[in-house]
Amino acid sequence: MSGARPDQAGQAVSAVAPSVQAVLDAGGEPVVRLMERIERRMAELATGHGPLLARYAGDTIAAGGKRLRPLLVCLAADAPPPETEALVRAAVAVELVHGATLVHDDVLDGSPLRRGRPTVMAAGGRRLATATGDLLFSRAFAELAASGSLDAVRILSRASSELARGELMQRSDAWNAEVGVARYLERCRLKTAVLFRAACELGALEGSGEAVALGAFGEQIGLAFQILDDVLDVSGPPERTGKPRGADLLDGTVTLPLIIARSRDVALRELDVRKVTGSAAAAAVCERITATGALEVAKGRALELVERAKRDLPALTSRQRAALDLVADGVVERYS
Ligand code: IPE
Ligand code: IPE
Ligand code: MG
Ligand code: MG
Repeated sequence: MSGARPDQAGQAVSAVAPSVQAVLDAGGEPVVRLMERIERRMAELATGHGPLLARYAGDTIAAGGKRLRPLLVCLAADAPPPETEALVRAAVAVELVHGATLVHDDVLDGSPLRRGRPTVMAAGGRRLATATGDLLFSRAFAELAASGSLDAVRILSRASSELARGELMQRSDAWNAEVGVARYLERCRLKTAVLFRAACELGALEGSGEAVALGAFGEQIGLAFQILDDVLDVSGPPERTGKPRGADLLDGTVTLPLIIARSRDVALRELDVRKVTGSAAAAAVCERITATGALEVAKGRALELVERAKRDLPALTSRQRAALDLVADGVVERYS
């Protein structure tokens, strides 16, 4: 892999992060070639659907991202994976659904920054962002449908429905500091982990692996991934995350760090989340959460999930296991 992706003007916009590079190295040449094909296919899709929407959808795709879900599709599909058109389409479809949910998520969360750039909502407004997300969703399913696998369409449509349910759950729980750990974990499973599950299941479908076991691996690391994302939202810094610090607090999303910190700090227990307005106030609450040690506890939970995911993997070749283990470990080290 070249280490950089071309943007629409052909310039390098984002280097491959070192930990992603390690996964590519472990996956070997076939995975590198597949990821290049996936990247090219996404760039083509970005430009093929009209200038206005293509500008925003194209920007979203070109802004990069870790491409973790397509990587999982490849790695779950044997080592080496079959270099088929169906595998490329499945990986592209998962990443497009991911992109669509991010664009919509930024509308729902009112987020100004994503991947270090203004979100589609910030740049083009709510209506354009809604339409851009819709376009990305529809292209995702067109990609899968073209390879003719009903099972693949079923896997991704189930994940997309659950994702939407997760986002709805997050909105209905907004500003409610009484949300408990079980409900928080269910929300994370729905809004994030199911897409990791789907990526692994789609890979397994193209390869010869056990879809159920590989899907379960994906779900556990997906859950760990969201917990880490929520930890990073509190710890920042924005230069590392590409998002403002305390963004969850400001949009009323109560996450594991705050749930844990509330049980350790009376002032946080009495905090009315609605009253936290502005980045300075959010940063001060983030400091207070950090001081309780809640971030270490939350990270510990994510680590346990990763260990369990690795332990429960079925019998695989040593090459496939090594690559999947690296992805799992990377989730808690967090690619950046
Ligand atoms: C962000 O996912 C959304 C969450 C599920 C927390 P990623 O961190 O994988 O996003 P990109 O694609 O790398 O930007
Ligand atoms: C994950 O949740 C969003 C999706 C699954 C689309 P977040 O709202 O925490 O993701 P970020 O922090 O905006 O990337
Ligand atoms: Mg968000
Ligand atoms: Mg977040």
